[in-house]
Amino acid sequence: MQENYIELVKKINNGKILTYSILTFGCQLNENDSEKIAGMLEEMGYVKIDDYKKADLVVFNTCCVRENAEEKLFGKIGEIKKIKEKRDVCLAIGGCMMQEEKMLKKMKESYPFVNVIFGTHTLQNLPENIYKAISKNQKVKDVIDIDGEIYEDLPIKRNSNFKASVTIMYGCNNFCTYCIVPYVRGRERSRNPEKILEEIKNLANDGYKEITLLGQNVNSYKGNEKIRNFADLLNEVCKIDGIEKVDFISPHPKDFTDDVIDVIANNKKISRIIHLPLQSGNTKVLKEMNRKYTKEQFLELAEKMKSKIDGLVLSTDIIVGFPGETDEEFEDTLDVVRKVNFEQIFMFIYSKRDGTVAAKREDQVPENIKHKRFDKLKELYESKVDENNEKYIGTVQELLIESLSRYNDNTYEGRTKTNKVVIIEKSKDYKIGDVVTVKITENHKWYLKGEIL
Ligand code: SAH
Ligand code: SF4
Ligand code: F3S
Repeated sequence: MQENYIELVKKINNGKILTYSILTFGCQLNENDSEKIAGMLEEMGYVKIDDYKKADLVVFNTCCVRENAEEKLFGKIGEIKKIKEKRDVCLAIGGCMMQEEKMLKKMKESYPFVNVIFGTHTLQNLPENIYKAISKNQKVKDVIDIDGEIYEDLPIKRNSNFKASVTIMYGCNNFCTYCIVPYVRGRERSRNPEKILEEIKNLANDGYKEITLLGQNVNSYKGNEKIRNFADLLNEVCKIDGIEKVDFISPHPKDFTDDVIDVIANNKKISRIIHLPLQSGNTKVLKEMNRKYTKEQFLELAEKMKSKIDGLVLSTDIIVGFPGETDEEFEDTLDVVRKVNFEQIFMFIYSKRDGTVAAKREDQVPENIKHKRFDKLKELYESKVDENNEKYIGTVQELLIESLSRYNDNTYEGRTKTNKVVIIEKSKDYKIGDVVTVKITENHKWYLKGEIL
């Protein structure tokens, strides 16, 4: 059905080389959706360019997890409006923010010139929607509120040719009280395990070496009789020849079962940095967040994982200033940070999201206090970076070379199995995508230096 529209769009654009550009505002799932959008657009004959201000078709793939995303988007829409006054541009806006009722209203009232609006459950209709917009000059709105089906085999244009993200499940059932994701992504739906493995085998055949399995809560993945759960799936992915590094994001601490820990411990291919989102270190706040674990349970889990999995380090997400959080409760978060010694911390200031349970609370924390706590956490984290880096000096690490370095023209940049950025001298003997063995020699705070062995 969509194939027809792909052909129709090609016909309309016949002979012309039209360009597209996609701006992605959200998480890795959002990024993966953008790769599918790119795949569909290329089948329709559009050619990618980086500068969205020069493109004939612009797609904004939005995120609404925190408020600042909205301001960013409106700024960009304003830029396209100005370009539209001078020449033809087709503007399509999709993603999580478009699933919000109030945003749809705002789009209709303030941005009527947007050509296509689509949601998280209607990505696969893009060819039809673009066709309607460019051939009939219609303003298309394609957003549904119910969970969509899982669409397999959409074309995909990946951002890299050696590392790939593979979505294993959609949606979220956890309803953490601060979070809007379950409202805009719908309920949990797991992909068929055979389909996932087939996709990864094809990637391996195409030369891909690194796979990241994606989902809002990957360890609640539900398979079939043969590949029952996340532990089984992870095990099967590791068996695929050619895949050298396997990663996943995000697991939920409440579902981090022993079978998953064992699979990781027994498979050297699996990344040695695991993301274990803490959110808060205080049991009362965690309860109000609906996280379903206590401070002690989190600490026990982190200890157990570190003791069973050789060379493991942890990364985490933390929210400061959840409604009602007191200074003493925030101290518990700092306490967990000191005890677990996270290698990486993604820190967020609580942002009120309409429709969530926490947004209705009267005891919102004042902005200045939220910022103070943020700065305190940041200071503690940064004081740990050097300490964590020093552990690496003199060690031997496997490095996947990912790009030319941001820091120095004559060097390559790669990542260890614990996701540390390491730079090495450029040489003809190896290239981007290769896995090399290096000895770590220097600590430069945000990266390490290594020598090829
Ligand atoms: N499913 C993933 C998280 C997705 S959102 C998980 O549970 O790990 C990514 C991160 O954004 C969350 O872990 C949380 O730390 C942060 N976040 C979510 N909602 C937020 C809000 N309302 N304010 C501030 N940070 C938020
Ligand atoms: Fe949001 Fe919680 Fe679901 Fe993560 S697990 S997406 S934080 S509701
Ligand atoms: Fe944002 Fe949607 Fe991801 S709200 S964090 S893009 S799932």
